[in-house]
Amino acid sequence: MLQDFKQLYGNAGEIRVFRAPGRVNLIGEHTDYNLGFVLPMALHLATYVAVSASQDGRLRIHSEDRNETREWALNELGHLGKRGDWTDYPIGVARELISAGFAVTPANLLIRSTVPEGSGLSSSAALEVSSALALLRGQSVDRKELARLCQRAENNFVGIPSGIMDQFASVFGEEHAAIQLDCRSLDHRLVQLPGGVEFVAVNSMVKHALAGSAYHDRVRECASAVAHIQREHPSVASLRDISIEQFEIVAGTLPPVIARRARHVVSENARVEEFVEACGVGDLEQMGKSLVESHRSLQHDYEVSCAELDFLVDTALSTEGVYGARMTGGGFGGCIVAMIQAGTSECFEKQIAQAYHQEFHLNPQMYLCRPSGGAAEVRNFETIPPKS
Ligand code: GLA
Repeated sequence: MLQDFKQLYGNAGEIRVFRAPGRVNLIGEHTDYNLGFVLPMALHLATYVAVSASQDGRLRIHSEDRNETREWALNELGHLGKRGDWTDYPIGVARELISAGFAVTPANLLIRSTVPEGSGLSSSAALEVSSALALLRGQSVDRKELARLCQRAENNFVGIPSGIMDQFASVFGEEHAAIQLDCRSLDHRLVQLPGGVEFVAVNSMVKHALAGSAYHDRVRECASAVAHIQREHPSVASLRDISIEQFEIVAGTLPPVIARRARHVVSENARVEEFVEACGVGDLEQMGKSLVESHRSLQHDYEVSCAELDFLVDTALSTEGVYGARMTGGGFGGCIVAMIQAGTSECFEKQIAQAYHQEFHLNPQMYLCRPSGGAAEVRNFETIPPKS
């Protein structure tokens, strides 16, 4: 990567490289912006940003994926509007850094990523967090603030009202563990996954156009559910604050669609706890069951699945050695995650690929998910993957 950097920008003094991982969410979907619980794990798939100081007052960013270089005068960053392309992520981050009082100085950046875009494995957060570290070039930053700042970039500049899960997982990822996060307090704890099982992400290779607008709709529907529930329970500030039993008592007073959306969120929060508990005692069957219930709830109550994801989940569930499977990420395409018996991934992948190709004429990419460390400076340049 250093070689590529020098080729692009010339011999430009000290080059530093920062890495931020993508994530797979094991359970707790569409709960983060409702201030509930999630259980993501950071992945070996990651975004790398090489950076060095520039002498000409400009910020220059090259994306290897797009084979595109863009540049800005530093003093114009505050006045930019969004472009609707990949630059919105690093520029959104630069603007948030500046408004939080960090020094963003002229620099050249080179971006390389192994997180597949549109896959629900959080390529956006990996880009935001790695760009933030590169723009900071070693300035110290509180890690929770780093996650929050990148979320703000996505909310304020990119324009997606997402929760904190992806950025938090990218910053706080740990080798050998998933992260159970309380999205209100940002308290988190590491969850060791039991032996004997593996998690495989299967990419449907589709991303339906509905994804963006439906995300906004769901955020609004959840807010509307809270407004209805508050008439009976004024202390409920988010769907996180009501148990499934309490919810069922008031559910009839909500418009039917709103009630279904809320039922998903309320029950999904409970499923995160259930899954983590089962994890702790090595109850693989119960873990698998929670995953499947999560999918059905996303499919029928939250309505963010699609034919491709449902097919992948159903095919996975009819494959030997599979404990459970569900869509992961925002939905309307992207990945499912399947929990399978350790050592059976080759056979699993073969069967899934064959069935999926027969049905949709697409070749699904698959990733064996191993928990990885969170965002950091890369000290050993040999660990940087080659240009794809
Ligand atoms: C996207 C968002 C996250 C989260 C998930 C759904 O990945 O970026 O904040 O809401 O969807 O769980």
